[in-house]
Amino acid sequence: MPREVPVATVDELAPGQRKLAFVEGRSIVLFNVAGEIRAIDDSCPHNGASLASAALEGCMLRCPAHGLCFDLRTGCMPGAVGLRLTTFPVRHVDGELLVILEDSAVSRA
Ligand code: FES
Repeated sequence: MPREVPVATVDELAPGQRKLAFVEGRSIVLFNVAGEIRAIDDSCPHNGASLASAALEGCMLRCPAHGLCFDLRTGCMPGAVGLRLTTFPVRHVDGELLVILEDSAVSRA
């Protein structure tokens, strides 16, 4: 059963900002991309590098370790199949941002 976990307030994540949150043993990076909140696991699917400080251009995130790019909207690499970010749905409720975690995600924490 999905769980909704508060990770930030809407006010602390203005457009262009990001936040690293620690949720039940996981590291999740939140991005505000032009008003849309995206949440990903802070682990590059290539070799596990942290993506918290990765360069962001539009919705494209470039891993600082080896330079692979991922689309925050889909988690996928443009024009390639295989590697994919772990993404999480986010809801706004009363000024809070809630990340939705599936039980399987929680149990891997
Ligand atoms: S660890 Fe991210 S591109 Fe290699």
